[in-house]
Amino acid sequence: MLPRLFRDYVAGGAHGEVSVQANRDAFKKWTIVPRCLRDVSQVSTATRWLGYDCAAPFMLAPVGFAGMMRCGADLMAARAAEKKKIPFCVSTFSITSLEDICAVQGTDILAQIYVFCDREITRDMINRARQCGVRTLMLTVDTPITPLRPRDEKNGFRRLTNPSVAQMLSFARAWRWSLNMVRHGMPVLGNLQPYGLGRTLLEQAKTAASQIDPSLTWKDLEWLRAQWGGNLVVKGVMHPDDAARCVAVGADSVMVSNHGGRQLDPSPATLDVLPDIVASSGPTCSVVMDSGVRRGADVVCALAQGSSLVALGRPWAWALAAGGEATLTEMIDGLQGEIRDVMALAGTTCVETLRSAGPAMLRRS
Ligand SMILES: Cc1cc2nc3c(=O)[nH]c(=O)nc-3n(C[C@H](O)[C@H](O)[C@H](O)COP(=O)(O)O)c2cc1C
Repeated sequence: MLPRLFRDYVAGGAHGEVSVQANRDAFKKWTIVPRCLRDVSQVSTATRWLGYDCAAPFMLAPVGFAGMMRCGADLMAARAAEKKKIPFCVSTFSITSLEDICAVQGTDILAQIYVFCDREITRDMINRARQCGVRTLMLTVDTPITPLRPRDEKNGFRRLTNPSVAQMLSFARAWRWSLNMVRHGMPVLGNLQPYGLGRTLLEQAKTAASQIDPSLTWKDLEWLRAQWGGNLVVKGVMHPDDAARCVAVGADSVMVSNHGGRQLDPSPATLDVLPDIVASSGPTCSVVMDSGVRRGADVVCALAQGSSLVALGRPWAWALAAGGEATLTEMIDGLQGEIRDVMALAGTTCVETLRSAGPAMLRRS
């Protein structure tokens, strides 16, 4: 459905794309032990996280440029998440602005932010989130630089300011996508429009990444904590010492993430570092994990190892590209159904008992 530029942008990882695969392989190392003769006639996948009542223990992670999957995709994600009662976090690099997404009726979304070199932009984004009634900020800390992503490099993503001939041909091959875009007018990063980072999407893609401040330190996290009184999630934590320090600064949740294998490559699979991070975060700070979560069994495995919730990135972008809001809704239902099946066959009837059963539910394969 998609032209190469955007298909590769979603699918790709950094350098050798080792971590993209490692994230998946880590789940394959675990099996879930079936249990029998427990009443599993009623199974609930519901849980509560940071004050959000979630129908299932997963959320939609922030995905920049998701609105390029099809026109209005950010709004479709917000509506699907709202309908299915799972949290949705809007990326700084969203095509639809935070204000327009928050205007979707009943929406209670999270806002992801980066600390930009120009602190005034960051300050303004925090204010905008506050004015929109956002209750949770998710600060991403694993992107001090954007490493080489070979597929993006080949396609000129973040390098070109105008489409190349090869890209034009690829747009022509993805003609349904192109027609959909042309009909609605060429999109831009609506969320960053107030800051004049470029006139076109490709210009914005080039300048926006370079705005992420590589000199960020723990002092900046303290600064942000002081600016923001709501929930604070720190995303992209992969070391137990860093998790402990996030807790000390006052984070409400840490998110174990290697950005879906798009940053340090090779970095450990998130599932492999999860137990140590849960141990170092202590009882006051919840842990969320993402990167490579695809099946219901993956969700159960991560919860058994101490995660309160998991997040998905690429799957929801693909669902929107494939069939829009209806397909994303189907995907959410499908994943929730799988989680319910796995929980029942493993003899657990609710998320709380699943989490307290813990690693005893699992066997190394
Ligand atoms: C296309 C794409 C764009 C992303 N953009 C952002 C972003 O703007 N901010 C952010 O914090 N994480 C971003 N991420 C990372 C996701 O939030 C998430 O950590 C990752 O996709 C999880 O891995 P998965 O795709 O294997 O589920 C992006 C990921 C993808 C695939």
